[in-house]
Amino acid sequence: MKKITTQILTPISTDIQTAAQLLHNSAIVSFPTETVYGLGADARNSTAVAKIYAAKQRPSFNPLIVHVNNLAHAEKYALFTDRFRRLADIFWPGPISFVLPIAPNSNLSELVTAGLNTIAIRVPNNLTALALLDQFNGPIAAPSANISGKVSSTTAAHVLYEMNGKIDAIIDGGPCNIGLESTIIAEGENITLLRSGGIPLENLEQVLNQKLSLINPTDSPTSPGQLTSHYAPKLPLRNNILSPKPTEAYLGFGTKDGDFNLSPSGDLIEAASNLFSYLRQIDDFAILHKKTAISVAPIPINGLGLAINDRLQRAGAIR
Ligand code: TXA
Ligand code: MG
Repeated sequence: MKKITTQILTPISTDIQTAAQLLHNSAIVSFPTETVYGLGADARNSTAVAKIYAAKQRPSFNPLIVHVNNLAHAEKYALFTDRFRRLADIFWPGPISFVLPIAPNSNLSELVTAGLNTIAIRVPNNLTALALLDQFNGPIAAPSANISGKVSSTTAAHVLYEMNGKIDAIIDGGPCNIGLESTIIAEGENITLLRSGGIPLENLEQVLNQKLSLINPTDSPTSPGQLTSHYAPKLPLRNNILSPKPTEAYLGFGTKDGDFNLSPSGDLIEAASNLFSYLRQIDDFAILHKKTAISVAPIPINGLGLAINDRLQRAGAIR
């Protein structure tokens, strides 16, 4: 990864304007929320979102939480039921994220949801975060601002320590009040607790007057998005293929060109930003052209290549 200069910004309005402008220019900006610091990018911009995965050195595409400034804005991206509108009225802004179906024409990058058809969304209760969301006037995808596998950062100094030279800016808004990630719940036949966090289970059950389902009663996983089933192509998919069969549609990379090419220049950030939409497109293309399978060129395993290979292996395994 190319080393960049990480600017330190403050919550004053000119700095918030700078941060919003950076986000519009596909940059990554860390900002405080009431739970932990986030690594923010424009949620509609796949190139920007790919840079988040690169900075976090995530070995897989764990979907990200989308941050917005209010419920009306959230409804542009997620399909709410009445009971989730009520929860939003009660708990937002606040430390709880809702997993809901993606709204049609949401225009979000498929990399944000890692190809799922649901989205995790929340309104943070932090004045700096809300000022940034107002100024940016769009959805900000943000995971916790730590390297994958490390603990979440709750001060700008923690973020700088792990992300110096890897992201464009950090807004120092002081330590986070809560210091624990948001609670995540998903709509469904029952409401399911996917991750415990800033809003206690008991509060939710009291408001809803019902028990929540737990994915695992003793231990809710820290990466619930990776347990749900991802988009799998309709056709069988083979990886690491140098010479595709005539019956296969070929997803190329670098100089191994194909019906689609994830990145003709061999750029892994570009490949990641194209991955989910090209998987869908090549599936349709293959069926249209009476092919019986998809094969994919070898992708190196350095940088984002690890996560790309992880995703491709899942796409190839599910049959
Ligand atoms: O408090 C927080 O939630 C912080 C601040 C920055 O908002 N963010 C945060 O993001 O903790 P992250 O990426 O570290 O955790 C988000 C979790 C991941 O475990 C992911 O699997 C899950 O949310 N997730 C995201 N989208 C999902 C989806 N559609 N279905 C299920 N889980 C999802
Ligand atoms: Mg995290």
